[in-house]
Amino acid sequence: MIEIRDLSRTYGSGSNKAHVLHGIDMNIERGAFTAVLGKNGCGKSTLVRHINAILKPQRGSVRVDGMDTKDPRRLYDIREKAGIVFQDPDSQSVAATVEDDTAFAPENLGLSEDEISERVEAALRAAGIAELRKKSISELSGGQKQLTAVAGIIAMRPDYMIFDESTSMLDPLARSRVLECVMRLKRELDVSVIWITHYMDEAAAADRVVIINDGKIAADGTPEEVFSDIELIERCGLELPPCAQLCVMLKNAGYDVPRLALNAHDCALLISGMTAAAVKEREGAS
Ligand SMILES: Nc1ncnc2c1ncn2[C@@H]1O[C@H](COP(=O)(O)OP(=O)(O)OP(=O)(O)O)[C@@H](O)[C@H]1O
Ligand SMILES: [Mg+2]
Repeated sequence: MIEIRDLSRTYGSGSNKAHVLHGIDMNIERGAFTAVLGKNGCGKSTLVRHINAILKPQRGSVRVDGMDTKDPRRLYDIREKAGIVFQDPDSQSVAATVEDDTAFAPENLGLSEDEISERVEAALRAAGIAELRKKSISELSGGQKQLTAVAGIIAMRPDYMIFDESTSMLDPLARSRVLECVMRLKRELDVSVIWITHYMDEAAAADRVVIINDGKIAADGTPEEVFSDIELIERCGLELPPCAQLCVMLKNAGYDVPRLALNAHDCALLISGMTAAAVKEREGAS
């Protein structure tokens, strides 16, 4: 489990001092898919950079499976357990080719050669970049670099996988393929996923949604719980997932929408139920 206690962070000093995180308290259990939302500059990246000890708490503490991120002796163990893929793909490559870059992290885990090549192969396929394996990183597009970084963390299979807008440069197909792959890994390997995103449809598919606003946790619950508070969503500078927006539009148009649907399947069920009710009502009236 990741235990974050009373975590606060400032940047700068004097009149330039900015308070970015204010007393964040949260636990992240093994095996959950947690989406982290919040408008630009609210502190999402700052928060997750504390999990694998890139940043150390100025106040409060962060523990990963009991290991304190302030303890320099546990740095390697913490980074092996909790891996991050960042938004900026240029800062993340360590080797010359896609294949070598993907193999870098598992090679450092002391695995057998067979295990490494099996993991690399599976990760390249999962990220949809198997055909790029021999390509030089410097020849890749931004999106292809992001996919290589995603393949790297998939091959490493840490217990906690953190994606900080790691699919922001991808086309819609690649984005949904990466998300599906990560969700499958979460199910099959019982890893925890922390998924920072500005896409509300991705958050709607999570087990848990956490909203950060002005450096504090503004909401924390299931997607159903969090997105039911439309006022809060607007106050935090966010919007509802597309299916929930459709429900609100129908409601505003005078339809009797019993609740908000968060995905296409639920939306279809809701609308077909409403249609049947509307027909019944009309038949009753005539
Ligand atoms: N190294 C730094 N030095 C000074 N200020 C910083 C530094 N890193 C971040 N900040 C500031 O801290 C605040 C939070 O930044 P952070 O990157 O955590 O936000 P974010 O929620 O990840 O935003 P985005 O959605 O744009 O990625 C911002 O106002 C940012 O300008
Ligand atoms: Mg960020």
